[in-house]
Amino acid sequence: LTAAEHRAGPIGYGLLVLAATGAPALGARLTRATLPSLSRRRLLALALLTQGVALILAGLVLDFVLVLLLTVLAGLAAGIVVSAGRTLLAQEVEEARLPKVTEHLFAVLRAVVAAALVAVPLIAAAYGDVEYGTVEPGSFTFIHGGAALAVATSGLLTLVLAAVVLLRTDDRRGTAPFVRDLVDSVRGSSGPVPHRGAGTGFFIALEGGDGAGKSTQAQALAEWIRGKGHEVVLTREPGGSPVGQRLRGLVLDVGNTGLSHRAEALIYAADRAEHVENVIRPALARGAVVITDRYMDSSIAYQGAGRDLAATEVARISRWATGGLLPDLTVVLDVDPTRARERFTEALDRLESEPTEFHQRVRAGFLALAAADPARYLVVDGSQAPGFVTTAIRHRLDRELPLSEQEKAARAEQERLAKEEAERRAAEEARKKAEAEAAERKRQELLAQLRAEQAEKERLAEEEAERAAAEARRKAEEEARR
Ligand code: TYD
Repeated sequence: LTAAEHRAGPIGYGLLVLAATGAPALGARLTRATLPSLSRRRLLALALLTQGVALILAGLVLDFVLVLLLTVLAGLAAGIVVSAGRTLLAQEVEEARLPKVTEHLFAVLRAVVAAALVAVPLIAAAYGDVEYGTVEPGSFTFIHGGAALAVATSGLLTLVLAAVVLLRTDDRRGTAPFVRDLVDSVRGSSGPVPHRGAGTGFFIALEGGDGAGKSTQAQALAEWIRGKGHEVVLTREPGGSPVGQRLRGLVLDVGNTGLSHRAEALIYAADRAEHVENVIRPALARGAVVITDRYMDSSIAYQGAGRDLAATEVARISRWATGGLLPDLTVVLDVDPTRARERFTEALDRLESEPTEFHQRVRAGFLALAAADPARYLVVDGSQAPGFVTTAIRHRLDRELPLSEQEKAARAEQERLAKEEAERRAAEEARKKAEAEAAERKRQELLAQLRAEQAEKERLAEEEAERAAAEARRKAEEEARR
């Protein structure tokens, strides 16, 4: 109908169909590469927003080429919506149920598309052709076909959906304003980190299943970062504070059978609140590098994905408990739980004793979190030798860790030396040039002198020859007289 309203003919119709079907497929493929440092929840809202605005404009503009371009834009955004939505879904749902839930979702999606194919033409028909104003040049006129208005209406509905998604799922509200986050991710920076003020520290969280090797890596990293001249605070959850120690005993004691899942989640959150308030924030405020063995993601993975609690709710509790403090970098050490189990040496605690399926779900939970916010995560294969794992993490930190005072001083010293060296070289060069010029001048002088001497000699020889010739003439005259 849109093609017909614009009198675009069969080619226009074909192009419109191509845009509406090809662009979503392309968008889905481009999702990973789109603003990688923006949280996937925010990307979802942004894509919906783009789609809504593009559809509204596509309904209102009168130029068919513009309609075509806007359809491509809306299509790309729609592809991103589906693909980002799927990533986020994986985070909310247990791994075992994921295929079923995805299938269900796509069935719903198909039904919605089918319903839209029937409903939208009806809406278009209900609008009919709308005309306001006169057609005189310069005066306001509003002439639109029903199809265009139906498209604009669907754009409006999409905008409403975008607002709902943003309000319901935004994971960083209050910690990083949406627009600033967006501007930063467009510029390609890793985005503002909530605790960051000028000159404050760096926050690293190590996450992963039991037996992934987090403690070993935490130690190795702490040593390496200390070597760079930073103050390093190495801490852990549960039990990073004195009260936390007691909570740790409570929650890990195998004797506490039947502890309710909600209580378990709240104890971990209480431990975290204490930890952030009394250990992590003060250390960051001093400018220290904080490495914590487990943080918020452990709760989302263990209590959310592992237990039967909703991951979003568990995340919300943690966000509240920490005042929204997120790590600058979260490293997930990924290992297959059955292999990790072989590493256990001590008696198993309450969570370690959970069955393998539980730990499989936990693993999937961590990976889904990392996939949803790739810029803030590093996933490392934890089954490799510890040395390799450390190198992989260092590699990433080399790019992200701020310079310590010691490194700054060393760098300044290096720059000073380089500058001195450059100055010395320049002086040397100037000296050599002056010398060369002097030598050249001397050579020219010598040459001039030689030339003068030569000329003098020639002059003398000429005089001599003239004198000889005069003499010969004189002799010849004398002879003739005689
Ligand atoms: P951990 O420090 O890894 O214990 P260990 O001394 O064995 O290295 O963590 C203890 C357990 O607590 C671990 O099985 C994971 C679990 N846990 C949660 O379930 N939720 C959480 O929020 C945290 C921090 C840990």
